[in-house]
Amino acid sequence: MRWPYPRIVAHRGGGGLAPENTLAAIRLGASLGFRGVEFDLMLSGDGTPVLIHDETLERTTGAKGEVARTPYAELAKLDAGAWRGERWRGERIPTFRDAGKLCRTLGVWANVEIKPAKGHERATGASAGRMARELWKGAALAPVLSSFSVAALEAARAAAPELPRGFLVDEIPADWKRPLESLECVSLHCNGGKAEENVIREVRAAGYAVVCWTVNEPAEARMLLGWGVDCLATDALDVIGPDFAK
Ligand code: G3P
Ligand code: MG
Repeated sequence: MRWPYPRIVAHRGGGGLAPENTLAAIRLGASLGFRGVEFDLMLSGDGTPVLIHDETLERTTGAKGEVARTPYAELAKLDAGAWRGERWRGERIPTFRDAGKLCRTLGVWANVEIKPAKGHERATGASAGRMARELWKGAALAPVLSSFSVAALEAARAAAPELPRGFLVDEIPADWKRPLESLECVSLHCNGGKAEENVIREVRAAGYAVVCWTVNEPAEARMLLGWGVDCLATDALDVIGPDFAK
């Protein structure tokens, strides 16, 4: 496919410059000129999709507990910014609704990574699909829903078949085509550090876009773009800017 989306996107909202998966991160990326963002989506204990990476709360909020067992009202009280410094104290775990609205307001495209807690794959995919359809209604650029979870992507497709999907892998497996075909994906997302030129060229020649994460070195970014990679997600927003070119 021709990749109509931004080439360089801010990983987890604002890369390494802001607390991951927060509204402040998305705002920071946008203020630096980033036109695309990747963030992680998980369901709270009572089924509210929120932006968070880990299944447990400890690393980013200091609280004990699991996201999938904590009702949203409790998650909303936690501080998801202070661990990155005083400047960010008071940042909350955002809902998908608030993050999606912010992206639309700022004109920032989104790669929504569906990151289900174990056992919640279908529910998370279905919720992501339903809500993304509503949040991006009428948008010029639809979000791409991506996941490592086949079940989550199947559920997202059932809920919102019209939204583009991406399949996430660490290293591209020999049978990469099978999941892309069966899930009707537009893109394959892989670890840039493990990517190989010939495989990337094969995937693209078959009509799929390739997205690489998390690319923080300009030399690596240049190499991957030279291989034809369509999109890079970076943590190094100050080094690999939104207009970075090979
Ligand atoms: O979406 C690609 C990338 O974000 C996958 O890794 O662990 O940062 O979510 P992770
Ligand atoms: Mg992610």
